[in-house]
Amino acid sequence: MSIEQLAETAQAMVAAGKGIIAIDESTGTIAKRFDGVGIPNNEENRRAYRELLLTTPNLSEYISGAILYDETLRQSTRDGVPFTKVMTDNGIIPGIKVDKSTHPLAGFPGEVITEGLDGLRDRLKEYYKLGARFAKWRAVITIGEDIPSGTCIEANSHALARYAALCQENGLVPMVEPEVLMDGSHDIETCYEVTEVTLRSLFDALYNHNVMLEGTILKASMVLPGKSSGEKVPVEEVAASTLMCLKSAVPAILPGIVFLSGGQSDEDATAHLDAMNRMGPHPWPLSFSYGRAMQQAALKLWSEDLANNVPRAQETVYARAKDNGLAALGQWSK
Ligand code: 13P
Repeated sequence: MSIEQLAETAQAMVAAGKGIIAIDESTGTIAKRFDGVGIPNNEENRRAYRELLLTTPNLSEYISGAILYDETLRQSTRDGVPFTKVMTDNGIIPGIKVDKSTHPLAGFPGEVITEGLDGLRDRLKEYYKLGARFAKWRAVITIGEDIPSGTCIEANSHALARYAALCQENGLVPMVEPEVLMDGSHDIETCYEVTEVTLRSLFDALYNHNVMLEGTILKASMVLPGKSSGEKVPVEEVAASTLMCLKSAVPAILPGIVFLSGGQSDEDATAHLDAMNRMGPHPWPLSFSYGRAMQQAALKLWSEDLANNVPRAQETVYARAKDNGLAALGQWSK
């Protein structure tokens, strides 16, 4: 696979005014989301829900790609059309979550390492054949008493770099995601410091593993105070802190940065992205790769009447895509 092809895919993922919808919840995570609204977690409901999302009319006006889970990549619509075909026919690039989730990091209580490197080369070859053109790996950094440790940050950066190199070898754009969690009572300055150290460590590891940044997308967390800190920070301050942090740690050659929503409200996630783009121009396009902030309103609506609420739920998905697409241009208004 040539770097030109990878770079072309990466640029298409962050095309002006477009972002990514993350619908890559593992069977365990979607169980939690379904539980919250009383939907039984079985394969048919998971399939029907992902069909609802992926067949939202005109979704590709604001959505360039979608991240799927292994099960979803192999599923089809009720009429038997593979989801990957529905997507490519509509100009939406199929992506795939390839990590095997977080596990306790031995010797470091309270910290986790993402697993999934064993056998990854063969899985990537299969995912490419099934139509995936980018792949996501999520590392999780927790802020708490005396954590994160340097060991946890470095171990996760090393895993991200090995996965990213394997992706490029097999024709997929790596979407590297080092998520600094919002959980905790830390202040925004602590989040800034931890995010900066994490990003520097990540780009150091990517460089050491010969990962081509021109064919890589960063999925970043925003710089925010901890959820239980009680601190309220104005939208512009979150935007300015996040930008400063990214500019100090992320090489300008990267084709784009997308954000995760991480438990922010729908409106906050959109407002923060919009504010950052209003402060531009920046070295890279800044867009979204939201999971909850794209889906939670639609899931709630669908749960109220699975048989009849598909069109209304799809209108909500479209509205969230539009708001976030406008925020990716700094043109959103409430
Ligand atoms: P959230 O936007 O819900 O944080 O999910 C994005 C994601 O893909 C996390 O890995």
